[in-house]
Amino acid sequence: MTSFLTMLSGILVARFFKKKKWWLKVHKRLNIAAVVLAVLGILIIAVYVQTSGSPHFRVSHAFYGAAAFILLLAAPALGFAMFKIKDKTKILRIKQLHRWSGRTTSVLMAAAIIAGFSLMGFI
Ligand code: HEM
Repeated sequence: MTSFLTMLSGILVARFFKKKKWWLKVHKRLNIAAVVLAVLGILIIAVYVQTSGSPHFRVSHAFYGAAAFILLLAAPALGFAMFKIKDKTKILRIKQLHRWSGRTTSVLMAAAIIAGFSLMGFI
């Protein structure tokens, strides 16, 4: 949840504050923080499920989480790749992939959160 809100702020900065000088620095920092928080969250929950003795990937929440996690690693990798590659057409393609992997990650994280709330009986 914390990771999701951090990432959402990072994405909104890229969407609405591109005219500001600081947008990229803030976008990178917020999204890297979101990745670190998500990795920590997943490690903690994986250890918890392991020690509880019940099987992993029992509920849809876990599948949304796993899919979000894969894209969560792809989005920053594509973000950094944009600055490493010289070929202009490749940069454009990577930019599109970066935007869409980032957006899809946040949607999958939202789905995992909703499925998690439903498991907890909140909704
Ligand atoms: C989990 C990490 C990240 C996520 C989820 C993410 C997500 C996004 C999204 C959704 C956009 C499009 C915003 C919009 O216009 O609607 C975007 C733009 C951008 N991101 Fe990231 N980002 C991440 C990390 C990074 C990193 C590490 C870098 C650079 C090293 C970076 C560089 C950029 C740049 C340059 C753009 C502007 C591309 C354009 O012209 O639209 N991002 N990001």
